[in-house]
Formats: sequence, structure tokens, C-alpha cells
Amino acid sequence: MLEIEKCLIFEEIPSTQEYVKKNPIEPWRIVIARSQTAGRGTKGRRWFSPKGEGLYISFLLPKDFFKEGLEGFSLVLGLAVSSTVDSFILSSIKWANDIYIRNKKVAGILVENTPKGIIVGIGVNLNTKDFPPDLKNIATSIYRETQQKVDFREFLHLLIENLNLCVIDFAEKGFSPFKEKIEKKLLWKGKRILINNNRCGKILGIDSQGNLIVKDCYGKILKFTSAEISIRPFPKQK
Ligand code: BTN
Repeated sequence: MLEIEKCLIFEEIPSTQEYVKKNPIEPWRIVIARSQTAGRGTKGRRWFSPKGEGLYISFLLPKDFFKEGLEGFSLVLGLAVSSTVDSFILSSIKWANDIYIRNKKVAGILVENTPKGIIVGIGVNLNTKDFPPDLKNIATSIYRETQQKVDFREFLHLLIENLNLCVIDFAEKGFSPFKEKIEKKLLWKGKRILINNNRCGKILGIDSQGNLIVKDCYGKILKFTSAEISIRPFPKQK
């Protein structure tokens, strides 16, 4: 189990994810950084990690804990993060790894299957007031959406509780108990979207493994298994 009492806290390190990867660390121990100088996102992006404004954590999970495999695991983690954000303001899950408030990203999840085990990294914009120009239109924080400061410890406490519930349930029962809950929170479900900037379609939902099901403009049903696709709302016609 993840425990708040056993966290390893750093004022500033390059990246909690890299720390877990490169240092001996026991499974389930949460590494926290107050700020990261080289925070990493998915698709080789950076993760904006200013001091004291966000939550930046990573932890290692033993592979043999997941007897049923890892299909849909990042969505389940997304549900844990999104449910935590919901204690402050309603959020959605943008398939497969992002948490959104309205149409802007508030949190991201990185899951890496390494020889050492599964390394989970979570970044949440809690009290960020201003984002750099390249993120301004796509990122938000709980503070920006609510005008209320979020207490770091309170958020961490709730997040750990939700993560424990979700991770343990997933290891025991697999993805299926989560499907409906995740689908209800799926961003742009039933809406027209643009896939990889060149194909239009409508999100129908997810299947029993967590794959994204889309109906394209010609009525063809498409299934996406990897988050390496980009989806965005279909631009409004002028
Ligand atoms: C994403 O691109 O959406 C995933 C972002 C993951 C960011 C977190 S912050 C803590 C951990 N350390 C990192 O360098 N990245 C992850």
C-alpha cells in the first residue's frame, strides 16, 4: 500500500520519475519533489514543475502484483486522479492519460513498464497561477478554475486513498469493474473530434480492455489501443 508516512520528499530534483528509475527504492514508496528541473511528460514532452505550485510524485509497483496484466491500468490511475480532483472541482478523463477541467489539462500520468517494475509518475497543477506562453491555452490548475488555494497535504492524502483503492481493486479484479465509471468521465464522449489532425470521428466509448472506440465520419468503427494518438475537439466551422 502507498502510505503518506513513508514518502521521500525532495525540495528540488530533476525528475521524480528518473529518481525512481535510477536509485534503489522499495516498491510502494512515494517520491515527492517540491519542484522538478527536468520534469518529464509523455511523448518526450517536459512537465512544467514550478516550486510549491503542483504535486509531482512517482512510485514503483512490483510487476508480480498484477497477475491479470496491465491492460487499462493507466485509465484506472486516471480515475483515481480525476476522482481526487473532483473533491475540488469536476474533472474528466481525456483518453488515455490526461485529466482535464473543461477543455484544459490539469494533470498527467506517466506509466513506464521497466525491468525494475512499473513506475508511475503523476503531476497535478494545484496552485499554478501562470503558465508559460506555450502552455497557457492548453493547461490549467485547480486554483485557476476555483480561485481557491489547494492544501498540498490534503490533496496528497485524498490521492493516496484513491490510488490505493483503485490499484488494489485493479490487481484483484482487472479492468472490467472500472469500465463504466471511466466511460462516464470520458472527455468529449459523443462529441465530434479530430484524430491525429487528419481524421474526424465521434468518440463512442471504451471497450472492456480500455481501448478507445471511435466512429469515423464514414461510419467505420475504429479502435485505438495506444495513447500515441492525438485527439482534439473538431474545430467549429466559421
Ligand atoms: C503527461 O505528459 O501527461 C505525463 C506527465 C507526468 C508528470 C509527472 S510529474 C512527476 C513525475 N516526474 C516526471 O518527470 N514526470 C512525472
